Amino acid sequence: MNLTGKERSAYVQNLFTRIAGKYDLMNRLMTMGQDIRWRDEVIRLAGLGAESSLLDLGAGTGDLARTAQKFCPAGKIVAADFTYEMMRTGRLASDGFGWANADALAVPFADESFSAVVSGYLMRNVIDRDLALREQLRVLMPGGRIVILDTTRPKKNLFSPFIWIHLHIIIPLLGTLLSGHSDAYTYLPDSTEQFLSGEELLAKMDAAGFRKTGFKRFMFGTMAIHWGEK
Ligand SMILES: C[S@@+](CC[C@H](N)C(=O)[O-])C[C@H]1O[C@@H](n2cnc3c(N)ncnc32)[C@H](O)[C@@H]1O
Repeated sequence: MNLTGKERSAYVQNLFTRIAGKYDLMNRLMTMGQDIRWRDEVIRLAGLGAESSLLDLGAGTGDLARTAQKFCPAGKIVAADFTYEMMRTGRLASDGFGWANADALAVPFADESFSAVVSGYLMRNVIDRDLALREQLRVLMPGGRIVILDTTRPKKNLFSPFIWIHLHIIIPLLGTLLSGHSDAYTYLPDSTEQFLSGEELLAKMDAAGFRKTGFKRFMFGTMAIHWGEK
């Protein structure tokens, strides 16, 4: 899949529209249930207080927003995405936080609106990562936190052959069996391998203007959580 620009954006939107109904189940299976722990960690790193406001950008079905609600029931939480069908699926399983139709490249909120902006598996999909980071910085209040959960390009290690089998055989097979959309689950491994390394994403966060940035890898180096502050 070598699409770029608006064509890639439209492809991503169409892909998530088609797999929306099976997305959460696939996530649990692909990560062997581990993503629940990682999402807790994202929200912990967002440093929410009782009155915090949080934007879950590229929220999909709203899993991170739902986790934030668990930690901060009185907070102002907004789940935002540009694929209606993902949000529609998520809304059936949640209430108590807001939903917004939003493009991560032109976030429809005023400057300094949120004390935290989090995202799960968004940055891999956006066509302009620098702009997406600048938009997140813009809507953050001074001192506010950004936390990004995403796949990361793994370094070669002892587990590399197993990682390759997981990405290129197990995930597409599971995806095809469960969703019937084999292309969607070849896009996901491909976009993982083409995504930035942990260090490259960190450098982009620094260049966008975030301070106190850092990241950690897990799941044999295939996932990472990045954080920073405005
Ligand atoms: C892999 S899903 C992640 C969903 C959810 N955040 C999670 O943690 O499971 C990626 C989501 O990003 C959304 N997305 C991709 N590009 C976007 C953009 N430019 N603006 C808003 N949402 C976008 C897709 O519609 C999709 O719902």
